Amino acid sequence: MKSIKGEMMSQQVNRKVILKSHPQGALKESDFEIVDDEIGEVTAGSVLVRVDVLSIDAFIRTTLDGGGFHTSAQLGGVIPALGVGTVVESADPGFAVGDTVTGPFCSQSYALLPSVMLRKLDTSIAPATAFLGALGMATGLTSYTGIVYVGKAKPGDTVVVSGAAGAVGSIAGQVARLAGASTVIGIAGGKHKVDFLVNELGYTAAIDYRNENVEKRLAELAPNGVNLFFDNVGGEVLDAVLMNIAEEARVVLCGAVSQYENMADVRGPKNYLKIPERNASMLGFTIFHYAHKHAEAEAQMGKWLKSGELKVREQIEEGIENFPATVRMLLDGGHYGKLMLRVH
Ligand SMILES: NC(=O)c1ccc[n+]([C@@H]2O[C@H](COP(=O)([O-])OP(=O)(O)OC[C@H]3O[C@@H](n4cnc5c(N)ncnc54)[C@H](OP(=O)(O)O)[C@@H]3O)[C@@H](O)[C@H]2O)c1
Repeated sequence: MKSIKGEMMSQQVNRKVILKSHPQGALKESDFEIVDDEIGEVTAGSVLVRVDVLSIDAFIRTTLDGGGFHTSAQLGGVIPALGVGTVVESADPGFAVGDTVTGPFCSQSYALLPSVMLRKLDTSIAPATAFLGALGMATGLTSYTGIVYVGKAKPGDTVVVSGAAGAVGSIAGQVARLAGASTVIGIAGGKHKVDFLVNELGYTAAIDYRNENVEKRLAELAPNGVNLFFDNVGGEVLDAVLMNIAEEARVVLCGAVSQYENMADVRGPKNYLKIPERNASMLGFTIFHYAHKHAEAEAQMGKWLKSGELKVREQIEEGIENFPATVRMLLDGGHYGKLMLRVH
């Protein structure tokens, strides 16, 4: 039987997706290029990982412009992306060949990283992909943090989530329900996503922002106003919800995906005066700032996942060559729940 290391030795190619040009407006697949490169030498303190699955996240789009939001992909370089994989060679006694690990592997088929950038996963708790989804920092832990720590969800709240059928949104609404919200309303694009939210994830109701007037429909569904809004989208959707906030509402800015294709001309909310008028608050957060809460959040999410109270939908596309198309799919909303890409 071939060892994992032996398998790797016979295949000395690292297939990479690199950034060819900064996107001008909407991201195009031609902004990327696929190249084959050598796998580097494993030196003291480093670990070579076979990338099994990459997480396709909205933040990836923000790294592609020069001067990105979090960090920037370099022209000719790989694209930042989180992943799960298998150790194939290790020069750190803390990691053994065959260990399942997670880390910032980027858009490539093998990642050679300092061991401090890796975390060993216990796949008896959940399958490896769950550590990118429900238990992942940029997905489930973000949903939990935004609803519980930042939004301070309370029993009886009416909660609204935008981008509700995506990775963060599909979990945020469920966390709100599990935290005691009496009404959870999702906003997503298309009748099929409305059905998914209500029938599969247990949202109270959902609004199709592509075909319905969000402001009017929300006034019907939440006549006493929205207590907590978890916003993934920004732009017109944020404005429509602001018109419907209750007194003392909390508006949590998790992200603004509607703006990511045009970061040089971000549009702020025009209805922000509803915040002082209704004695409300608007708070942004970045998950990195809640590192001290990650273990607690992960433990709670793990319990809900195990008990079946939390439903997850994972959509896994295939092949590193499809990284550009899969990022495009994320921005176009062509997926349900957590979008990922299988590399090996
Ligand atoms: N604060 C943090 O630390 C943190 C961490 C992780 C993620 N985030 C944020 O969380 C949000 C969701 O990220 P994700 O990775 O989970 O992606 P995702 O929600 O799985 O995918 C993005 C979704 O955005 C929707 N969308 C795209 N363009 C839109 C537009 N113009 N108007 C309305 N909806 C639009 C699409 O759904 P439809 O089909 O419904 O249009 C798509 O499914 C992003 O804003 C991201 O930046 C924040």
